[in-house]
Amino acid sequence: MILEAINISKYYGEFCALKDVSIGIDEGEFVSVIGPNGAGKTTLINVLTGFLKPDAGQVNFRGKDIAGKGPEELSTMGIARSFQLVHIFPELSLINTIKVAIISRQAKGMRLFASLARDKEVHEQALEVAELFGLADLLEETAKNCPQGIKKLLDVASAFALHPEIILLDEPTSGVSTSDKNKIMQVLVDASKKIGIKTVLQVEHDMDIVFSYSDRIIAMQQGKVLADGSPAEVEKNEEVICTVVGQKECFQTFNRIMSMNREERA
Ligand SMILES: Nc1ncnc2c1ncn2[C@@H]1O[C@H](COP(=O)(O)OP(=O)(O)OP(=O)(O)O)[C@@H](O)[C@H]1O
Ligand SMILES: [Mg+2]
Repeated sequence: MILEAINISKYYGEFCALKDVSIGIDEGEFVSVIGPNGAGKTTLINVLTGFLKPDAGQVNFRGKDIAGKGPEELSTMGIARSFQLVHIFPELSLINTIKVAIISRQAKGMRLFASLARDKEVHEQALEVAELFGLADLLEETAKNCPQGIKKLLDVASAFALHPEIILLDEPTSGVSTSDKNKIMQVLVDASKKIGIKTVLQVEHDMDIVFSYSDRIIAMQQGKVLADGSPAEVEKNEEVICTVVGQKECFQTFNRIMSMNREERA
């Protein structure tokens, strides 16, 4: 197992956002975390990537306890993430945004100036990542002026530029149109193959994307794991589908839409 949460609890004051959550991600898996708004999905990602300390429980990376390690240290160990609300430097150009990510990987927090001296190498690597993400025509564009879909891609590309062993993506396609969602997912899957990132954990609300890309689906509700299984298992779970989609009468409609989508893809 590459990344594991064991009996994690997390409180915001009195409010319990994660209650005794245990999940494990195997090397090579593409796992989606689903659940209604406020289920605790982002909180779980924050705990797994060192942005938040759990109040109870343990997080293991390759079998070692990583409690107390912050996001920078974890990113140099091979855990990278992207954000639900994009985290980019608004005034930087796209190419410089990716370069900053590469330098932070090479510098490992210490040799920033030595890395800057190797600017050509950094530039070439940044170009490679930009090309993988279809951003090559926009290199000099200022991040804040880009449309939402490009900002999302840039945020994800910056995480990929770290060449992590596992990448955690918090709603990589949120705020972009349905047709762009599939494009982003395809780019993301192709890039992870090319860069050699085998393990992906994503939070995603779009059920079509969740069911077409995932090896496994973890459903959360009110800070707890409601189900953890293959897409075929989760699809049959009426309680999960109704909780996630948020309507009582949704189950049959959901199954009809899923089978229509499958036929369309076939
Ligand atoms: N910093 C915070 N302080 C207090 N409460 C918080 C904080 N962050 C999150 N919460 C609450 O914790 C719960 C879980 O939030 P979280 O962001 O993890 O949910 P989520 O599943 O990612 O939801 P969404 O689908 O809307 O992104 C929510 O009720 C939220 O209001
Ligand atoms: Mg969230």
